[in-house]
Amino acid sequence: MIRSVVRGIGASLPRRIMKNADFEGMVETSDEWIAQRTGIRQRHIAADDETTASLGEAAARAALANAGLTPDDIDLIVLATSTPNNTFPATSVEIQNRLGMRHGFAFDMQAVCSGFVYAVTTADLYIRGGLAKRVLVIGSETFSRILDWSDRSTCVLFGDGAGALVLEAAEGAGSIDDRGVLAASLRSDGEHKEKLFVDGGPSTTGTIGHLRMEGREVFKHAVGMITDVIEAVFSQAGVTAQDIDWFVPHQANKRIIDASAKKLGIADEKVVVTVNLHGNTSAASVPLALSAAVADGRIKRGDLVLLEAMGGGFTWGAVLVRW
Ligand code: ACO
Repeated sequence: MIRSVVRGIGASLPRRIMKNADFEGMVETSDEWIAQRTGIRQRHIAADDETTASLGEAAARAALANAGLTPDDIDLIVLATSTPNNTFPATSVEIQNRLGMRHGFAFDMQAVCSGFVYAVTTADLYIRGGLAKRVLVIGSETFSRILDWSDRSTCVLFGDGAGALVLEAAEGAGSIDDRGVLAASLRSDGEHKEKLFVDGGPSTTGTIGHLRMEGREVFKHAVGMITDVIEAVFSQAGVTAQDIDWFVPHQANKRIIDASAKKLGIADEKVVVTVNLHGNTSAASVPLALSAAVADGRIKRGDLVLLEAMGGGFTWGAVLVRW
């Protein structure tokens, strides 16, 4: 059977780093409060010349270089983002143009923080369905542009950045030992819209709007939802928590990550954490964390890697990949 195998990975972060202490004086907060409640120490914030498209392009180029490929080798770009450069055209098409691609096709996916998990699952289906051989899957966000910088309960949590994977069709035996995407589970439930949303949009206010979140409410649901889809993926693939080499969760809050790993019985040393460095970069958080763990040699070819995310909508999902 055809499998979607990871051929390359890359990341891109804005030049400017904003430390927790930089918020002191802007809103009533402290480095101690932010670090204790979330695990976040710093985040990258895009300058005017850094956009979702430019960061996404840089991550895509890094992933292509890592794969030893050029844009000519790519058939499809799937971009997960909730902060597109424009309402339309899709930012993925802009990235396609920036890469000089005059062939193939590109589209955006909008599942907020779960966007990258949705995008990997979608790209896998395009590959297995024979519509594409090589797909650039990108998560790129500039959440700094939709934050209310006077709201201390949200502005300290998010950051900007991008990460990308090249997925490639390869022959597999159909077993759990195959490399590539092995199982996935996606969910959404619009009942929770008011707990995490942006209060603007083209069809309602005609404005971009600002992110609004009832943090405590999101927190309450997060661990249960995350662990449900992970257990669905485990049962699809016939594996247990003990078989996982690396757990790469959405990087929203260290307390949610720790509680999810504990509930699943995944050892601390198998959990990849970058929320301290990047904050919550929404759809970019999982590929940024993956990229860090590949770059420092933790994730190696053949490792069983569990991805997970949960975000606005609510949306949530998990993917199991053998690297
Ligand atoms: N500095 C100081 N105090 C603050 C800050 C701040 N930055 N922000 C809030 N507080 C205050 C609150 O006003 C509150 O004060 P009060 O008790 O006087 O009312 C107090 O701190 C406690 O607030 P809580 O919201 O109860 O704090 P909590 O421990 O729940 O932590 C947090 C807040 C970090 C937001 C947490 O709830 C969380 O991480 N939630 C989940 C976020 C998440 O995972 N989002 C999903 C993905 S995001 C996406 O999809 C876009």
